[in-house]
Parts: sequence; C-alpha cells; structure tokens
Amino acid sequence: MGKPHILIVDDEKFTTDLLSVRLKANGFDVSAANSPEEALDFLKTNTPDLILLDLLMPGMNGYEVLEKVRAAETTKNIPVIMLTAKTVQAEKVKALNSGLDDYITKPYDSEELLARIRAVLKRSKTREVKNIKEIKNVLITGGAGFIGSVLTGALLKSEYNVTVIDDFSTGRKENLEKFSGDKNFHLITGSITDEALVAKAVEKCDIIYHLAATVGVKNVVDNPLETVIYDTIGTSIVLKYASAHGVKVVITSTSEVYGKSEKYPFKEDEDVVIGPPDVNRWSYACSKLLDEFFAIGYHRQRGLPVVIVRLFNVVGPGQLGRYGMVIPRFFKFALKNEPMPVYGDGEQVRCFTYVDDAIEMIIKLASIEEANGEVINLGSGKEISIKDLALEIKKITGSSSEIVFEPYHKYYGANFQDIKKRVPDLTKLKRIAGVVPKTSLKEILEKIKKYFEENPEALEGI
Ligand SMILES: NC(=O)c1ccc[n+]([C@@H]2O[C@H](COP(=O)([O-])OP(=O)(O)OC[C@H]3O[C@@H](n4cnc5c(N)ncnc54)[C@H](O)[C@@H]3O)[C@@H](O)[C@H]2O)c1
Repeated sequence: MGKPHILIVDDEKFTTDLLSVRLKANGFDVSAANSPEEALDFLKTNTPDLILLDLLMPGMNGYEVLEKVRAAETTKNIPVIMLTAKTVQAEKVKALNSGLDDYITKPYDSEELLARIRAVLKRSKTREVKNIKEIKNVLITGGAGFIGSVLTGALLKSEYNVTVIDDFSTGRKENLEKFSGDKNFHLITGSITDEALVAKAVEKCDIIYHLAATVGVKNVVDNPLETVIYDTIGTSIVLKYASAHGVKVVITSTSEVYGKSEKYPFKEDEDVVIGPPDVNRWSYACSKLLDEFFAIGYHRQRGLPVVIVRLFNVVGPGQLGRYGMVIPRFFKFALKNEPMPVYGDGEQVRCFTYVDDAIEMIIKLASIEEANGEVINLGSGKEISIKDLALEIKKITGSSSEIVFEPYHKYYGANFQDIKKRVPDLTKLKRIAGVVPKTSLKEILEKIKKYFEENPEALEGI
C-alpha cells in the first residue's frame, strides 16, 4: 500500500509549505494548491486520499470548494478536513453539518492534526465496510463479565480476533477459561482508566464493544465514587482513543437512565428523571447518561461512528446475584428452600431480556449504518412484577421457600430509591434492527434452572 496522499488547499503559501514538511515527515505524500481554482484544477486529474481545506480564501471560500468537490463523481467521496481561524461554536456546527469529515481551528497542535488526519483516513476506509464480517479485530472492554463473556464467545465462534480488557472487579476468570486455548482470544488484565493500556489496545482493533463498568445496584450503592470514576472517566478514555484511531464503538448503556420517569413505555427521546446525588443509586444512571453524551458528542463533533444501546435487565445462565441481580438471588434461595426476600411490596415491574438475544442484537446493530449516532432501547417488552417473578421461580424449582417482604433499607441501607417500573418502547429497535428479543421469561428461567442444576457450585458464588 502506498503512502496516503493529502492535498492541502490554502492561500497562504507559508501554511502549505509548513504543513507539507510536517506531513511528509510523518509518512504522507503531499500536494499543495494556493487557490481554490488551482485545487479544483488539480482534482480534475487527481484523487487524493484526503483534502485539508482552508475556510477563508479570496474568491471562493472553503464551503464553495467543498460543494464542488462533493458534486463531482470522481471526488465526492474524498474526506475533507476544514482548517479555519474561526473559533465560534456556530461555525463549527455549520462546518460539521455541511458534510465535512472534521474541522480544526488554527493554530492547531500538530499532533492533534495528525491524529485527526489518521482518524479520518481510517474512518473513510471503514465507511466502505458494509458487512460486520469484514471486521476482524474486536476489542471488548469488560469481556470477563456476564454479558461480555457471552459476547466474547459469540464473536470467537464467528472467527473474529477478540481482545478482552478487564480488571476483574466484578468479572470472573472462570467466564473466560473456555476461550484460553483459542488462538484468536487475547486477554489484557487492567483498567480502562489506564490510558496507555487503552491506547495500545485500541490501536490494533477495528471495533470496540464497551461494556466495562461498575454495575449492580448493590455494588453501586456501596461504591458511588468508583461508579462515577469508572463509568465516566473510563468511558471517556475509551472514546478518546477510539476517536483518535477512527474505530467504531458500541456503548452499553442502561434502562436505569430513564430513572424515575413514569412515561411508559420508555422512549429514547423522552425526558429522563434522575434522583438527587445524595442517593447513591443514581450515580450509575447519571454516569451512564453522561457516557451517552460523551458518545454522541464524539459522533457529532468528530464524526466517530458510535451506537448506544440501552439494555433492559439482561439475564441468563452465568449471571451472579452477588451485586444485586434479582434472578440468580431468587434461584439461590429457592433451590436451597430458604426464604426468598422480596424488597418493598414486590409490585416493581421489570422486563427481562435473554442474554443471547441481547448479544445477537448488539452485534447486528454494530453492523447497521443507520444505527450510528443513535440511542436504542434493547430489551424485552414483556412485563412482570418482582413478586410474580419470585412466585414463578418458586414454581419452576418446585421450592418450598416462603416469599418474605423486606424493607429496602435492610439490604441497600437508608436513603434508597427504587424505580417503580421499567418497560422499553421497542419501535426504534424494530425499525433499525428489524428484530426484537424473542425468548420468553419461562424459557429463560428454564435455562437458568438447568444451568444451576448442572453447576451447583455456581450457587455458592452468589
Ligand atoms: N446485565 C444487565 O442487565 C445490564 C443492564 C443494563 C446495562 N448493562 C451494561 O452492560 C455492561 C455489562 O454488564 P454485565 O451485566 O455483564 O456486568 P458485569 O459486572 O458482569 O460486567 C462488567 C465487567 O466490567 C469489568 N470492569 C469493571 N470496571 C472495569 C474497569 N475499570 N476496567 C476494566 N474492566 C472493568 C468487570 O470486571 C466485569 O467483568 C455494563 O456496561 C452494564 O452497565 C447491563
């Protein structure tokens, strides 16, 4: 493969000369034009890989040149980065909405400019990728966790080269043991807050599934500070390096972001109602919401392809109850014929989504162009109260456990607030992915029961 060829269009010869030297020193072929006319003339017979275009030039401004570049069949797909001395926000918005691939304000830091050029070049290549099958190297943050390990298995099965980053805070080595002999599986033990580690891992991948987070209501209530640090700073680091290398990111957000909203079913564009900061539980919802803002910001201002999925109570064999997940906890008590504690009045409603369905849809959404820059609910639309769930698990296990109602504060401490009901509107998922989760709660519970029967030791880890 030859060197990437860049055309610099700027009426200031000093700028084109200086930039040429810098770009050549960093492995690019460079051509320069010192007027719009000269540039358009050059483009009649040449197709560079990228154009750096000055905004303010005599005769024709950068937007007018861009219009002509986009109008011609041979140049319409060439990525363009605008160089400008204007710093006003309205100008940036206009620039990004007019089909530019990026926008950089003079005087620019040359490392930043190089990173942006590389990112745009990489993105313009991946723009051609219509089929996720053409992507080879996948990075999964939080891959040792419940959902992450199922995703790892599914992608390895489809012959992707999978690298997992995990700090094993809630993830388990056991979840990954089955992949240890697979030559396509690589494990990096460490935190997503370690910039050097993330930078290195992102460099070699084509797509990132970002799952690493402090999760589980009990875990969050006990560790609100870690929740905010890992679930926001961690995500911002992942997005920063993804943006610098032009790597697509799938973000796993959560139905918790709807908070105390009572507008059922929850729609992606509805207002959210989050509780106050002195109630620890909201640190998770708030952090995950901020992740969504980060991701959308990178998409809108830097052109990074991102897909944000809001997951609704994903469950299945292998999930632990240690951090507050209700189904494994109920199984543990039911299978031991011990009292099953239901917090509050048990009338809180949830929709449980089978992990394999969620994984299938996450992978599918990652491959759909239309999903880029979108927030999409992903969950089952089937509602059940926690009390009925306890009864269902009692029935399915033939348990003699008694169901006991306990106040929230006994488990979560004082000052806890719960979410009454969480039900997704699935219109967007259906429109974009063409499918919604199909596995019924009864089938899910049967699978989990079978798992605990075959792995009784798993009950001890709960
Ligand atoms: N399970 C659900 O119902 C559900 C619902 C909504 C959203 N989600 C989201 O899905 C993702 C996966 O959740 P899960 O249920 O599999 O939970 P999990 O706890 O099993 O997985 C999270 C993984 O991230 C790892 N991790 C945490 N902090 C890290 C850090 N700083 N650096 C590296 N690794 C780190 C943990 O060790 C763990 O392996 C999370 O982002 C979560 O917010 C899950």
